[in-house]
Amino acid sequence: MKLHVFETYRELSLRAVSIVAGQVLRKPDSVLGLATGATPVGLYEGLAELCRRALISFAQIRTFNLDEYVGLSKHDPQSYAHFMQEHLFRHTDIDPDNVHLLDGTTRDARNECERYEAAIEQAGGIDLQVLGMGRNGHIGFNEPGSPFGGRTRKVRLSEDTVARNSAWAGTSVPRESLSMGLRTIMNAREIVLLVSGKDKAPALADALGGPVVPDVPASILQLHPAVSVFADRASASLVGSGERALSARR
Ligand code: F6R
Repeated sequence: MKLHVFETYRELSLRAVSIVAGQVLRKPDSVLGLATGATPVGLYEGLAELCRRALISFAQIRTFNLDEYVGLSKHDPQSYAHFMQEHLFRHTDIDPDNVHLLDGTTRDARNECERYEAAIEQAGGIDLQVLGMGRNGHIGFNEPGSPFGGRTRKVRLSEDTVARNSAWAGTSVPRESLSMGLRTIMNAREIVLLVSGKDKAPALADALGGPVVPDVPASILQLHPAVSVFADRASASLVGSGERALSARR
């Protein structure tokens, strides 16, 4: 993993924009894996701006989102489908047929997750996966203890994740989600992990410098050959300090 530390969230986001825009320019039919939440908002703003100015095009881009809350339809304002539409897709020329999202309203989660895995494979795999990280070290919604070999499946969110995401959303969010598994994520050819804020500092220190263990899901990224970590100064403040907070974050 290569760590890049930026003074501010804005600088981190601008660098992330250039990585994703570069991918889109080099391979206009790239398959992008996308995250939701607070962290990639600056990235999506930047990409939207480049699309508005016709400097890049999403016309042939294909996307797969990491996760979706169980029970929420794509029209629900709390759904990640809605988030993506608002923050990125509606500002681009992406073909709606090329947007892939997990259906949180499915009655057959197993079938929906298998369908998703097959669609990723059929698209030729993910070229560039954008990730955020939870303050307990989760990536996607692979909470501490998730199997390293896990595929897309239904998962139960930790209390901490539900509390944090409910606070961010301003309303309570579902306790279950469909999420790409760690193995699905690790199959991406290239990964960029975005991390911002002091509350992520213990998890980032563990993910980068601690042992590769299921208790810190993001630590699996140490085993991937092409991961860039873009962190702001606050989130990177404990990297290399030897401080660990594993037990505090379950
Ligand atoms: C979202 C996702 C999660 C978030 C993580 C960080 O699609 O997969 O892993 O990236 O919870 O969320 P924020 O960016 O809101 O701190």
